[in-house]
Amino acid sequence: TKLCVLISGNGSNLQAIIDEIKAGRLNAQISGVISNRPDAYGLERAKEAGIDAVCLDHTGFDTRESYDEALKAQIEAFGADCVVLAGFMRILTPEFVDCFAGKLVNIHPSLLPKYKGLNTHQRAIDNGDKEHGVSVHFVTPELDGGPVIIQSRVPVFDEDTASDLAERVQEQERRIYPVVLSWFSAGRLSMRNNKAVLDEQEL
Ligand code: GRF
Repeated sequence: TKLCVLISGNGSNLQAIIDEIKAGRLNAQISGVISNRPDAYGLERAKEAGIDAVCLDHTGFDTRESYDEALKAQIEAFGADCVVLAGFMRILTPEFVDCFAGKLVNIHPSLLPKYKGLNTHQRAIDNGDKEHGVSVHFVTPELDGGPVIIQSRVPVFDEDTASDLAERVQEQERRIYPVVLSWFSAGRLSMRNNKAVLDEQEL
């Protein structure tokens, strides 16, 4: 399975995927990495691993539609069976999303449907939540609203800052994202009728 990984920043999820492939626990290849930001550290991680990495800077485009057209062309140039959003901080057009339906996954740092959007860790703290976590989901045109594939929960402690909580959540992110991709690569995971299906079971 060929993965195309889209990033905007640090790329710790990208690194986890690279490491699991190297370790032989994820039977896939990364055909390319795309960042919408030139300064994303994840671009260095990709180059370090010998993976094709390009920056497609959104600031050079007038419209979201034209950016997403270019993004689609770059993904197709890499040749990808699965498009992996890994800290890619841009909203995608419905046209783009529909084009990759069932092959487009995202990791979101909350227990969806709670806390769609940004600042999820602070929002969990502000609401006094005792539990927080991360979700991997198929992407549909509804922002952070596509069918959930897996979630991992972490405790929230009284003294936690947003960055403490982010660190605890991100440890789980690096654990679960490669697992989901291994299911996808093995042909065990799909999206049907807006539901995630694993081994013929609706999740
Ligand atoms: C992760 O917390 C992810 O859930 C969120 O952005 C962060 C990206 O981290 N959407 P990284 O770039 O993979 O290190």
